[in-house]
Amino acid sequence: MSSGGAVLVTGAAGFIGSHLAAALVQRGQDVVGLDNFDGYYSKHAKLRNVESVREATSCDGSGTFTLVEGDIRRPGDMMQLFASVEPSSVIHLAARAGVRPSIAQPGLYAEVNVGGTVNLLEAARQTSTVERFVMASSSSVYGNRSTVPFSEDDPVSEPISPYAATKRACELIGHTYHHLYGMPVACLRFFTVFGPRQRPDLAIAHFIDLMDRGESIQMFGDGSTSRDYTYIDDIVAGVLAAHERIVAHGYRIWNLGGRHPVTLRDMIETIAHATGKAPKIVQMDMQPGDVERTCADTARSSKELGCVPKVTFAEGVARQVAQARAERASLTN
Ligand SMILES: NC(=O)c1ccc[n+]([C@@H]2O[C@H](COP(=O)([O-])OP(=O)(O)OC[C@H]3O[C@@H](n4cnc5c(N)ncnc54)[C@H](O)[C@@H]3O)[C@@H](O)[C@H]2O)c1
Repeated sequence: MSSGGAVLVTGAAGFIGSHLAAALVQRGQDVVGLDNFDGYYSKHAKLRNVESVREATSCDGSGTFTLVEGDIRRPGDMMQLFASVEPSSVIHLAARAGVRPSIAQPGLYAEVNVGGTVNLLEAARQTSTVERFVMASSSSVYGNRSTVPFSEDDPVSEPISPYAATKRACELIGHTYHHLYGMPVACLRFFTVFGPRQRPDLAIAHFIDLMDRGESIQMFGDGSTSRDYTYIDDIVAGVLAAHERIVAHGYRIWNLGGRHPVTLRDMIETIAHATGKAPKIVQMDMQPGDVERTCADTARSSKELGCVPKVTFAEGVARQVAQARAERASLTN
C-alpha cells in the first residue's frame, strides 16, 4: 500500500473502479474516487456502484471514500484536484470503454482516453506527493494476432479499433512520463472482465438480461471467436499487486488474464446453464473492430505480481447471474 495520503481512483463509479475502490477501503486505505458519470451507460447503475463502495467503508478498520465529480478532460480541474487531495498514488481506470462505439466516435475516445490520461500524468508529475501511477490498458492492443497466447513482448503496432489505438497510446505516453520524470508507471492489459455489476454493454451482462427476459440474443459470427474472460476479483488482485510493486520496476506492462479462453458459443451455453433458460440465438455477421480471439500469456504477471486467477468461468457467471437477479428484484420491490 502507498504511504501517507489517499489513493486517487479515476472511474471509481464504473464497474472495475467501484470494485477496486471497495477493496482498497477494506484494506484501510483512504480513497478519493473521481468520475464524471459519463453517458455511456445509466447513471443509476453507476450510483449503485458508488453505493457498494460506501458500504465497504463500514467494515472495521476500513479507510474513507470521497467521491469527486469531475472530468479528466479538464487539465485545470485536474491540477486543482491534485493540489487539494495530494494523493500518494493514482489508479487510472476512467475511460471511454467499448470497442464498437469507438468506430463511430474516434474523436471522443481520443479526447477522453488519450487527452484525459495526459492531463492526469501531467498533474501527477507536478504533484510531489504522487509516488506511482497505475493505468488500465486492454487486451485489445494486441489486435488480430493469430498466434496465442499474447505476450507483453509481442508487437502491438496494428490495433484494429480506435479504442485499442487509444489504449496503446496511453501505454506509450506512460513510458514517456516514466522516462522524463522517473515516475513509476504500470500499464495493465485487462482481458475481458466479468462478474457482478459488469458493464451493461458487455456481452455476458447483456445476454443474462435478454435470456432472463426470454428474448433472443445476437451472436456475431459463428460462435467460434473466443475471449480470455477474467473474473473481477482476480483483476482487482492484479491491480493491487501492481500498485504495490511498480516502484521496484519503474515502467512495466502486465497482462491480467483468466488463462482459459472460452468460445462465444460456450459462453452462451454457460449462461444458459446458470440462468436455466434456453438461449434463442440469432446469428449475425462479425462486427468490424472485434478481434477473433484473446488469450493472455500470464507468465509475467504470475511471476512478478503473484497473480493466479482463482474464479472459474462457470462460477463467475453464476455469481454474476445471482447479482443481476438480486439487483433487478430490488428495483421492482
Ligand atoms: N471491462 C473490461 O472488460 C475491460 C477490459 C479491458 C480494459 N478495460 C479498461 O478498464 C477501465 C475500466 O473499465 P470498466 O469496464 O470499469 O468501464 P466503466 O465504463 O464501467 O468505468 C469507466 C468509468 O470512467 C468514467 N469516465 C468516463 N469518462 C470520464 C471522464 N472524462 N472523466 C471522468 N470519468 C470518466 C465513467 O463514468 C465510468 O464510471 C477502462 O479504462 C477500460 O478501458 C476494461
